[in-house]
Amino acid sequence: MSVLTRSPAWLALQAHQKKIANRPLRALFDEDPQRFDKFSLQFRDLLLDYSKHPVEQATIHLLLALAKQQKLADWLSRMANGEKINFTENRAALHIALRANSPVFTDGVDVTQEVERVLQQIGHFVEKVHNGTHRGYSGQSITDVVNIGIGGSDLGPVMVTEALKPYHVPQLRVHFVSNIDGAHLAGTLQHLDPATTLFIIASKTFTTQETLTNAHSARKWFLANGGSESSIAAHFVAVSTNRDAVIQFGIDPANMFAFWDWVGGRYSLWSAIGLPIALAVGMEHFRSLLAGAQTMDHHFLTTPFEQNLPVMLGLISIWQINFFHVTSQAILPYDQSMHRFPAYLQQLEMESNGKRVNRNGETVDYSTGVVIWGESGTNGQHAFYQLLHQGTQKFTADFLAPCQCHHSLPEHHPILLANFLAQTEALMRGKTEQEVRTELLNQHLPADEVGRLLPHRVFPGNQATTSILFRKLDPATLGQLIALYEHKVFVQSVIWEINPFDQWGVELGKQLAGKILSELVSDQPPAQHDASTRGLINFYKTQR
Ligand code: F6P
Repeated sequence: MSVLTRSPAWLALQAHQKKIANRPLRALFDEDPQRFDKFSLQFRDLLLDYSKHPVEQATIHLLLALAKQQKLADWLSRMANGEKINFTENRAALHIALRANSPVFTDGVDVTQEVERVLQQIGHFVEKVHNGTHRGYSGQSITDVVNIGIGGSDLGPVMVTEALKPYHVPQLRVHFVSNIDGAHLAGTLQHLDPATTLFIIASKTFTTQETLTNAHSARKWFLANGGSESSIAAHFVAVSTNRDAVIQFGIDPANMFAFWDWVGGRYSLWSAIGLPIALAVGMEHFRSLLAGAQTMDHHFLTTPFEQNLPVMLGLISIWQINFFHVTSQAILPYDQSMHRFPAYLQQLEMESNGKRVNRNGETVDYSTGVVIWGESGTNGQHAFYQLLHQGTQKFTADFLAPCQCHHSLPEHHPILLANFLAQTEALMRGKTEQEVRTELLNQHLPADEVGRLLPHRVFPGNQATTSILFRKLDPATLGQLIALYEHKVFVQSVIWEINPFDQWGVELGKQLAGKILSELVSDQPPAQHDASTRGLINFYKTQR
């Protein structure tokens, strides 16, 4: 057994779980009318309700004791003070510096000055594209931007750009190409005019196979359709930490927007990786996004833990994952514009906390990051909610929704919210055998028919969910929401004693793909592989 699972705080939570697990959520609500007031928190326009989890006051005390035992406060300071807490890559994890309003140091240097310099560079560029002084080779204004990037260089920007659609400037369309599948790039380019298209090649390392292949193909398309080598500067810009590789690709370093190794890919949308966001919504809204995140950072770093939204969100997830053994978490935004939020959180949570050894390199004997998945409401209700209501899997779910909408059909909004509330209530309360029996008898069904239908119509309920409501999905609120989840992931990692800022797990597949690629394109029989991989390679070669 690990030190953590033998620790006093862990054992106390285990013992407490045995007691509370026998008390259904609906009983907890029936017993205590103040439950919502006790187990919900508000920060500015954002409400976090965790009262539909199996918690009581003692649970919160025990979870806070676990946080204390795991030195959470120290780890918050270590992150904020620029310590190299990403020790396997010898880097700080300073995404908070990207939206800070006071100096942030690492290696004795205040990095916020460089951050501001790049923000100014982004601001000037965005202005020139928007006012038409940055023009394409034919003298026309830019009408389309194509961001080529993958993982953190795609998911954050695409999620935010979609979520902030009501704030888009009218004269520009922003597209995102990530997949190495040529269909993604080809499908995007077929509607575009090279004379009015700007490409952003976004890659922290500037070595990622998918991004560089797509970037080279985009350049070929540009040159083959009217562009020239001398006009590449007006149509290709790069966002990267790797200046040499940008130059080698053929992009003028004057057209490069820098960021730094202390920004993790999945934490980078606040950096120059957010350039497509700034182009889509304008610099003022991009700055509001950053300012919103900054307010959440301040809240996270200064608020007592029991009142602290990211801390409580993280601790409640620990309670569910490690003591109730849930293995997946659904992210269910009741807002169509947040439809990429689940995909964004998949990378944030699963790439960060999908680790199996602790900071000392010892294999852990407790669950770390869970499977994150989801879909926007109400679409999910007609697809997978059946399993949530009557299936056998252990899960939790975060429901998110704005109280106000942006669109021109406001009469839809209460219907959307009614569904959100009905689902969370139904998952919590369920429907007992007695309730189903009464309902069926009221329909005057014969007794044997009631008996036959009864088990199929019972809902066990007692399914825990978190509700997050906010006034309106504006840039600042979106910034708060994203920062809330970033910090929640950090809180989990501290409890689990893992490094959330590296991602060695994605390397093996990359290495093998490079080797197999040369075998796929050669006429020689495949080299050393297992029989399955060899068979698949041979089948491909006969069928291509
Ligand atoms: O998927 C692995 C990963 O390294 C992510 O962490 C990163 O966001 C993504 O690849 C893209 O990397 P880059 O920005 O260097 O192209």
